[in-house]
This record gives sequence, C-alpha cells and structure tokens, in this order.
Amino acid sequence: MIKYTHTQILNIPKIELKQIPELFNYINRPTEEYLAIQRVANEVNQQAGILLVIGVGGSFLGARAVIDACTPYFRTLNGVEIVYAGQNMSGSYLKQLLTFLDSKDVYVNVISKSGSTMETALAFRIVKQYMEERYGFGSKQRIIVTTDANKGTLKQIAEKEGYRQFEVPTNVGGRYSVFTAVGLLPMAVAGIDIYEFVRGGKQADQDHSTLDCSAYQYALTRFELYKQGYAIELLASFEPRLNKLHEWWKQLFGESEGKELKGLYPSTVNYSTDLHAIGQFIQEGSRIMFETLIHFENIEGDIEIPFSIDNIDGLNYLAGRSMNSINSTSKDGVALAHEDGGVPVIHIELPKLDAYHVGYLMMFFMKACVISANLLEVNPFDQPGVEAYKKKMLELLKEDVVKVRA
Ligand code: PA5
Repeated sequence: MIKYTHTQILNIPKIELKQIPELFNYINRPTEEYLAIQRVANEVNQQAGILLVIGVGGSFLGARAVIDACTPYFRTLNGVEIVYAGQNMSGSYLKQLLTFLDSKDVYVNVISKSGSTMETALAFRIVKQYMEERYGFGSKQRIIVTTDANKGTLKQIAEKEGYRQFEVPTNVGGRYSVFTAVGLLPMAVAGIDIYEFVRGGKQADQDHSTLDCSAYQYALTRFELYKQGYAIELLASFEPRLNKLHEWWKQLFGESEGKELKGLYPSTVNYSTDLHAIGQFIQEGSRIMFETLIHFENIEGDIEIPFSIDNIDGLNYLAGRSMNSINSTSKDGVALAHEDGGVPVIHIELPKLDAYHVGYLMMFFMKACVISANLLEVNPFDQPGVEAYKKKMLELLKEDVVKVRA
C-alpha cells in the first residue's frame, strides 16, 4: 500500500529488534463506540452549524489533520464548520471566537485526557459560561466531553454537569489517540467517513507487524541518518491540505523521541510555497537535514492549463497538462535537486488522498515512531519535558496572585 523508497542512503545496516512492538490494539474499539460517535455526530449535524473543538496537542491535532486532509478546499463536507480553541492563551483569539460563535448554532467537544491541561481548561471555563448564558439548561446537551474514563478534573465536571462523555483509553497517550473518540468524533461531525479511516489504520497495523515492513525500514533509515550526524528531518508535501498532517507528524515524532538529549528535530515544509523561502537553505545551507516527501497519487479535483494564442508567458509547452501532473513533476525535480545538494530524500507514496489512506498513513507513522524510539532507546509514550514549562508557568502565575493580593 505504501510505496517506500529512499535514495542516496546506501547500505543501511539492519538492527534486529526482537519484534515490532504491538501497542496498537486499542484501534479495535467496540462497535458500540463507533455507533455512539456517529449518532452524536448526526445529532450535531442536525442541530448545529458549528462544532467548537477545545483541546491541545494530541487532543486535537489528529482530528484537525484528518479533517483538513479530507475536506475540499473552500467548503465543508456537510455544512458543519469545525473551529478550534484551547491551543493558545490569546485573549484576543477567544474574545473574537465568541463573537464569531454568536451568529451560529454551537456544539462543543472538549477533549483532554488528563483533564487539567491549562490551555484547554481555561478555554473551556470561558466557553462553558458562554454556552450556559446562551443556551441555559440546553447547554448540557450541547457540550460533549472526551476524557479519561475514571479520573481527572474534566471527568469530575462532566459528572457534575451530566454532560455526555466519550473515553480516552487509559493506555493511549494523546499523540497516539487519533483512532479513538478523541479524533473520531470531530471527524465524524465534519463528515469524514470514520469507518474508512479506521479501516485504513487497521490495514496499516496488519501490514506493518513484521521486520520486513516499510515502517521498520523508514525507522531504520532515519536512525542511520541520525547516526551519520543529520540533525533534522523535514517532512514535505506538495498539497496544501496536508499542512496540518505535517503538524500532527511533528508532534508525534518530536514528543516521542526528543528526550535524554537524543532525537532528530522534526520540521515541516509546504511546497511549493516554501521552495521560495526556506528552500534556499535546504538547497545550499548547513548540511544537517534530510527530507521525507509524502505524496498521494490521486487527489480529487484537477484543472488543465489552457492554450493561449499569443503565448506571451511562454507557457504553451504546458498547455493541455493538468496542474496536478505539473505538481507531481515539480516534486520529482525538487527531490533530484535536493539530493544533488546533499539532502538525502525518503519517498512515502500512497495511491489516493482519502480517509482510508490518511488512516493508513497515520498508523504507519505511529508504528514507525514507536520502532524508531526503540532504536534510540527512549520511551515513546512519555513527555517529561512538557511538564517543565508548565511548572515554571504555574510558579509565575501563583507569584502574580500573591502580588495582586499584597
Ligand atoms: O501527546 C500528548 O500526550 C500530549 O500532546 C497531550 O495530548 C497534550 O499535552 C494534551 O493533554 P491532555 O489531553 O491531557 O489535555
């Protein structure tokens, strides 16, 4: 399914892992859970014009990545718009968001596994009050909580208020949770076929369970490049609607591997936009990076270059060719140029940009990430470094409270 190739990097020695870690059993959620998610999504579709998703990191990036990748440009799939909050602490953003919501019928899905993440908790406190003022008792029906099944502050609020709840399975960390209600509910509301998405993930899970799989090859290649002194992996694609998938990938690898003073720095570029900016550095700057190019063969919608009688722009040699085919050729040209410039290129290609193949790709990356962390000998499931800023921020906020009171 995934066509995996890498160029220029020869003789990658095999490192024998005992086995491909089997950590993704949670993808087999009970059928009732999918049905319940779809039922609530149908209700939101009927009752609301907008779903506000509140969450940060793994609690929103997966859904956003899939929604953006599988939704046409300039329209929604079914008329329900998805907007997001809880990813920043901008008062300006929240204030303007509430004004924007005023003219829409709103449902809210607040997502936090721990239930105590500051960005999410603050945004939810403000939005909860907004919903209560606007909908009164009806706000209970319109707020849906996705959190741990047994514990946490958000769980307590949900119980007290009687909100409907979906579960983040205990053994699944945020950045690995896209195949649970965390990802699936916002996706279903956006009109994505969640069954196809999960089917793709399951297939990738099956296809990447032995040491000859491409997830292992990809992990091994990155590890070898890391050992050779490359410091940065650039994920690149040529389709703008994949930008948020890049962000999800960046979080997955960055948070899973960047610890104990180890790991490749995951960075992303969107072509051809970035070829006219950071592209200069990639071609000729410090030789510290390699590039992973994602490409979907078949993308819905295309347009042909018209013939021009006067041909002043000199582009008639392209007349009759489709933009997507030119985009694809530009990808091949970029790969050749970057290799010539000393940037090794890994190619990951899939047949079609749709929910099934995006699910397939995300599972491929999650498996590759866990394998890769195994090679690096770090724990892919914790994020001790994320706690450091929180601790400092809390200390400062508490100092501020003392100062204000004094
Ligand atoms: O991958 C992770 O574990 C993190 O990115 C979390 O998803 C993020 O910090 C949000 O955590 P929570 O869902 O507990 O609010």
